[in-house]
Amino acid sequence: MTIAICSDHAGVEYKAKLISYLLGKGYEVLNFGTDSTESMDYTDVAHPMAAAVEAGEADLGIALCGTGNGMAMTLNHHKGIRAGLAWNTAIGKLVKEHNNANVLVMPARFISYRMAVSIVRVWLTTEFAGGRHQRRIDKIPV
Ligand code: RB5
Repeated sequence: MTIAICSDHAGVEYKAKLISYLLGKGYEVLNFGTDSTESMDYTDVAHPMAAAVEAGEADLGIALCGTGNGMAMTLNHHKGIRAGLAWNTAIGKLVKEHNNANVLVMPARFISYRMAVSIVRVWLTTEFAGGRHQRRIDKIPV
């Protein structure tokens, strides 16, 4: 499975560690940056990563910024992306089980790295429940 990943400067440290974690677990990783702590605009990495997931170059995506909101707002402008924000493991599970998020977004400035990696683990291993949740997802596009 290939996982695309991106962050702005606020999430760059967690992104680097998550890449090592994912590679260690046998995932392929596509890194869309940033790879610097210099201030940058989350949109500049979110759009290319979303396009790669939409094109099928990656199966899933992970995005980090300070609050997670800038990334989620940007990513959800893409038709093929359902980006969900998670800040604890219960929400990390539900964002896959109920919302089938194909991009996991996390608020790097408000969670520990230990929490971030735990959220990634549960999101990757949880299955979408389908059923009534699929019906609700089908009603999202306006
Ligand atoms: C960067 O300072 C911050 O605005 C960004 O990481 C994010 O929180 C935006 O939503």
